[in-house]
Amino acid sequence: MKIGCPTEIKPQEFRVGMTPNAAQEAVAHGHEVYIQAGAGTGSGFNDEDYTRAGAKIIDTAEEVFAISDMIVKVKEPQAGERKMLREGQLLFTYLHLAPDPDQTHDLIASGCTAIAYETVTDAAGGLPLLAPMSEVAGRLAPQVGAWTLQKANGGRGVLMGGVPGVGPAKVLVIGGGVVGTHAARIAAGMGADVTVLDRSLPRMRYLDDVFGGTFKTGFSSAGYTAELLEQADMVIGAVLIPGAAAPKLVSRAQLSTMKPGAALVDVAIDQGGCFETSRATTHADPIYDVDGIMHYCVANMPGAVARTSTIALGNATMPFMLALADKGWRKACEDDPHLLNGLNVHAGKLTYYAVGKALGLDVVSPNVVLKG
Ligand SMILES: NC(=O)c1ccc[n+]([C@@H]2O[C@H](COP(=O)([O-])OP(=O)(O)OC[C@H]3O[C@@H](n4cnc5c(N)ncnc54)[C@H](O)[C@@H]3O)[C@@H](O)[C@H]2O)c1
Repeated sequence: MKIGCPTEIKPQEFRVGMTPNAAQEAVAHGHEVYIQAGAGTGSGFNDEDYTRAGAKIIDTAEEVFAISDMIVKVKEPQAGERKMLREGQLLFTYLHLAPDPDQTHDLIASGCTAIAYETVTDAAGGLPLLAPMSEVAGRLAPQVGAWTLQKANGGRGVLMGGVPGVGPAKVLVIGGGVVGTHAARIAAGMGADVTVLDRSLPRMRYLDDVFGGTFKTGFSSAGYTAELLEQADMVIGAVLIPGAAAPKLVSRAQLSTMKPGAALVDVAIDQGGCFETSRATTHADPIYDVDGIMHYCVANMPGAVARTSTIALGNATMPFMLALADKGWRKACEDDPHLLNGLNVHAGKLTYYAVGKALGLDVVSPNVVLKG
């Protein structure tokens, strides 16, 4: 198969769909890999890294789209890229179609087969191609929170680990899923005193079994959250209710009960945020102050560490990318129902029910399409 990887063109996107290692694996499987010149620069990979891996460098996105049977990307194709997709071409990337009718219509009209990273599943009921980005955002949250807590940034001037004779920062993590667990691990590793709140008892049992002693767990009731808020130097918002906007768990009125200069890091901002006073910010201007409480609400946190994020995403996508290339999408999806769950569009038809429901469009079952 001819596999193509264009440079990402969405603003502030520095990741790339294929690492040199992924390219090398694909070449070893007998495929041809075409990388747009400079595609890896934002993640610290140069064209020579890809050439050494056996890939061919081509100058323009137009050429990459024209030559490739499968396009591997990071972000959803932008309007100009969608015009270059064609019937029978395979697209493997994040799509997030439900809130994006223009993209959905363009993909349907193109006749391509589009497999979305975010809807591929695994046997444990997880989302294996979303998880790496949650891991990155979770591990980054205490790091940016610690920076926010510094006096010059408007914070309380508290050091995460304290020093001998001075106690550590108190960190409250709301939501103990992928983001919350990784945030808690790193905050505890920095020496902070960490409590994770969740509403799922099985999840808290798991966290207590695995991390008991490293951080504490608590049940996320309004009363207990209010109690811990008053003591917290940093609060990390990491809740998710699948398919719904994030619940608002800290109100504006509650900010006045907190320590002045405390830091709120709302990782759940991409689902609307879990603090009433959260509004999305960018890496260029990440923090703002409401009532003396510093907020960090960057919606694409993994972009700050593009290299780590690219490699983490590449590790997760590689086995699926190889299966698609080796077997073709139909056989690969026949063999793996979790990959089939990623199928969103095929040959002019929408094949993902949640997207159809969100946009009021007809959907054909992926199983019907598969037999097609
Ligand atoms: N800002 C970014 O760059 C970025 C990056 C990655 C993920 N995210 C977002 O982070 C959020 C968390 O993602 P995740 O992968 O950890 O999800 P997850 O499903 O693994 O975990 C969510 C957790 O929230 C818990 N929860 C639900 N309601 C709760 C409540 N009222 N109180 C306490 N806990 C509650 C659930 O039980 C679950 O354990 C999502 O909104 C995700 O989109 C943001």
